[in-house]
Amino acid sequence: MKILVTGGAGFIGSNFVRLVAAERPEFRVVVLDKLTYAGRVQNLENLSCEFVEGDICDPQAVSRAMEGCEMVFNFAAESHVDRSLMGDPDLAGAFVQTDVYGVYVLCEEAKKRGVERFIQVSTDEVYGDVESGYSVESDPLAPRSPYAASKAGGELIARSYFVSHGLPVITTRGSNTFGPYQFPEKLIPLMVTNAIDDKPLPLYGDGMQRRDWIFALDHALGILLAGERGKPGEAYNVGGGNERYNKEIVAQILQLLGKPQSLIKHVEDRAGHDRRYALNFEKIKGLGYAPRHSFEDALRETVAWFQERQDWWRAIRDGADYQDFYRRQYAQRLQNA
Ligand code: NAD
Ligand code: TYD
Repeated sequence: MKILVTGGAGFIGSNFVRLVAAERPEFRVVVLDKLTYAGRVQNLENLSCEFVEGDICDPQAVSRAMEGCEMVFNFAAESHVDRSLMGDPDLAGAFVQTDVYGVYVLCEEAKKRGVERFIQVSTDEVYGDVESGYSVESDPLAPRSPYAASKAGGELIARSYFVSHGLPVITTRGSNTFGPYQFPEKLIPLMVTNAIDDKPLPLYGDGMQRRDWIFALDHALGILLAGERGKPGEAYNVGGGNERYNKEIVAQILQLLGKPQSLIKHVEDRAGHDRRYALNFEKIKGLGYAPRHSFEDALRETVAWFQERQDWWRAIRDGADYQDFYRRQYAQRLQNA
């Protein structure tokens, strides 16, 4: 089996390649990645795969990378809600370009080549804010941020290739993911790395927003099983079953690191902030999926990884790009706090 993993140098993609190496050693893996700010070849350290640097929006790069592949797993995306809100046209446009147009380019090539499975990795954010209850796959898509809307658009493009051209598309909708190699712009790695350096932890609004959290290797397992055992044309929620308030998680991180709770700073909320995401993931349980890691163990493991791998995250955080992002996103907020 030869598979293409787009976005494989990012956070979940590289954890997926790591899971495949452990669980499906017979698979040959090709990674196609543009190496945006979020992609790092180092994330694939100690893993054997063929690496193609290129853009999923570039038909030639896609054609080269997909050569001989039987399954395509599309992880490539602009993935950070805050960046999609920053008001910089280049940045916001990149979400639509990669997360929608890129899916079209991949689907076209997959259709031409007659691939056996096309897995579109999506997110629970496509369901929008979920005040109560749990999202099921048949719920309407009601995205509210430019990121979530782009991901919903990508799903619909992929689905249209199933309906119109019979491309065997399977969609996964995963919940908030955390673990090693996550870029320190997302809640958990940002708070862990700030806390290690005794910097303030910027909690948006009242911190009472809730997410369902899943460890990266569990999310990767759900995606692999959906790809192998799922039914074309269907979507599968991949949940972790760990609903937590942001406030609770940040407090737990400080406790694990032995740092004072006074580092928490309530700052101006994110615009249009969804209060809650929550998944019903009974459907994928029917394919034999169950999360293997408890939230508490996985959080401890993740915090330990960030303590050990300061070489990894300091190289990112010390860079001019990150410093610029951090200043734009947090300087004023922290000053007003
Ligand atoms: P990430 O930002 O860490 O990684 C994205 C990767 O895609 C990077 O390696 C980047 O270089 C690459 N990439 C971006 N644009 C590209 C392009 N045009 N061509 C080729 N490569 C490109 O993201 P992540 O957190 O690992 O998320 C992976 C996927 O999972 C995304 O599709 C995201 O929407 C989805 N997802 C993420 C979460 C989460 O909590 N992080 C939850 C559910 C679903
Ligand atoms: P994030 O990791 O950006 O994921 P998403 O927005 O896709 O759910 O954020 C998770 C939650 O944490 C979300 O409710 C926003 C909140 N958050 C903060 O309070 N402060 C921060 O600095 C960040 C990055 C997120």
